[in-house]
Amino acid sequence: MEKLTGPKKVKTVVFISGTGSNLKNLIKFSKTKKSPISIDLIISNLVQAKGLMYADQFNIQKKIFNFQSLKKTEKTILLLLKKKNIKFICLAGFMKILSKNFIKNFNGKIINIHPSLLPKYKGLDTHNRAIKNKDKFAGCTVHFVTAKLDSGKKILQKRIKITSQDNVTSLAKKVQKEEHKLYPEAIMKIFN
Ligand code: GRF
Repeated sequence: MEKLTGPKKVKTVVFISGTGSNLKNLIKFSKTKKSPISIDLIISNLVQAKGLMYADQFNIQKKIFNFQSLKKTEKTILLLLKKKNIKFICLAGFMKILSKNFIKNFNGKIINIHPSLLPKYKGLDTHNRAIKNKDKFAGCTVHFVTAKLDSGKKILQKRIKITSQDNVTSLAKKVQKEEHKLYPEAIMKIFN
């Protein structure tokens, strides 16, 4: 990752599809002095994504694309990011898969947070799978995004104990709490 020069923060877009708790957390982090990034754009593939409310709340530009034509949409997004001088992409609960070509344009500049101890449980339903397999630990991982789903280089990972009382809901809650610490830490690690 290129080193930061001067006081300027790296302009960043966050891609979401849902609740946006990680988005909210990243916005708050981005406003701290130590943050190497600023969040200048929020992109969602769903107009009903709850997280879009943080765009209004924090006065950040938002854009919604339905991704019906992936190629066309990605082209439009790439132009927009260029126009806005956005250099870094955080995926936070974004449910679409970006193309190889798009990723190539932002090589090493796209990261994602995933609710499992990757390489275990790529894809969906991670907590249910961990509990069903009687795993002792669950967790979350921040990783670079490559064309292969949930497979890019790991940046940081946090392990959380699964207790005999845990169910999918309680585990998801515990993991999310850690996600909110891990994502900013991973960003700090990348830029320092
Ligand atoms: C998080 O659990 C994240 O790990 C996964 O999607 C979820 C998004 O949650 N990729 P939120 O929308 O940030 O609340």
